[in-house]
Amino acid sequence: MGKAQTINGFSKLSKVEKLRWTVAQFGREPAALERELRAFWLADDARQGILDGFSENTISNFPMPYGIAPNFLINDRPYAVPMVIEESSVVAAASSAAKFWLGQGGFRTEVLGTVKLGQVHFRYLGGVEKLRAVFAELKTALRESVQDLTANMERRGGGVQEIKLLDFTDRMPHYYQLKVSFETCDSMGANFVNSVLEQFGRTLEQFCDQYPDFTGPEREVEVIMCILSNFTPDCLVRAEVSCPVEAFHMKGTEASGLELAETFARAVRIAEIDPYRAATHNKGIYNGVDAVVLATGNDFRAVEACGHAYAARDGRYTSLSHCAVEGGTFRFWLDLPLAVGTVGGLTKLHPLARTSLELLGQPSARELMQIIAATGLAQNFAAVRSLVTTGIQRGHMKMHLQNILNHLGADAAQ
Ligand code: MEV
Repeated sequence: MGKAQTINGFSKLSKVEKLRWTVAQFGREPAALERELRAFWLADDARQGILDGFSENTISNFPMPYGIAPNFLINDRPYAVPMVIEESSVVAAASSAAKFWLGQGGFRTEVLGTVKLGQVHFRYLGGVEKLRAVFAELKTALRESVQDLTANMERRGGGVQEIKLLDFTDRMPHYYQLKVSFETCDSMGANFVNSVLEQFGRTLEQFCDQYPDFTGPEREVEVIMCILSNFTPDCLVRAEVSCPVEAFHMKGTEASGLELAETFARAVRIAEIDPYRAATHNKGIYNGVDAVVLATGNDFRAVEACGHAYAARDGRYTSLSHCAVEGGTFRFWLDLPLAVGTVGGLTKLHPLARTSLELLGQPSARELMQIIAATGLAQNFAAVRSLVTTGIQRGHMKMHLQNILNHLGADAAQ
């Protein structure tokens, strides 16, 4: 049970008033609590103002470590990848995997698609055949109604692609969808997609209300909601590594390269078979993916939601990565749906997101997809390699030791 009082008009208070109200709610010495929260304010007021603008009711900042994983060779181009993550040993693991694959020609990556999706969910009380009969005309009206919104995106090579009518009346009476695909170029495109969809919703209602042949129940359209889908299976990137099994041999282990490669492949197969293992296996992938997504100011909730939906696309949750050992070659790859941007959103607003993109050489969204997928694969490789050799705790606890010492209040001499 929380102990805070309720309050009206909290959002109208100034930042300092919000801070004072908050610290006054709790038992610990309010002045000390206020000092602690203020200690994380940025010295530069302009920068602090930018951060405060991202969210609401802010009273402080929550810092996260910002690290670099060097030695990523992706399609023959070297990168030092910025990663924002609070978990120890993740950046070390990504770096060590990147270094290993650097010696084997690096990562090969390829964008398999960049299609974003959105939906207008609506109820339509008429017969579906009548709607289908006018659908070509409706589509023209829909497209015309968003010309102002799409002009800019079209100049950049994007815009609305397909508009489909889907009938879900077998699952809910009168429920239909416009399923719309988009190309949003270097932006993640959430605002663009949602603005277009909301206009589509209004146009759909008007069209059905005013279409001359619609005289009965077909005039009755009720738009329920218009929103992008975070499940974008065709916004997909592949990252892959391969090496002769001999190179897979690891110092300190007695097993041959082939034996280790096969054990590794079995571990991946287990994640393909068993959803309990798959969730943990994929979590390891997202340790790397989210860290770069965060560092570049992208939306990690959207990226995760998409990845897990994709991992369950055939009705059973499974591994996002796959492995094969054939003819003396070890191959390990990952297909990752990934809707990210390098313009718009926070990517250029957040001072450190902007810096991350600079460190990555101002990538396009397609290039960023490839960097993120390679980092996810590296992370997954490092985790599974540890699991099937030394066990995860050895490396993890070595890196975590500093946290334990800090927690115990140990000084430098101790
Ligand atoms: C820990 O953050 C991630 C791992 O559990 C991933 C895995 O088990 O593959 C080590």
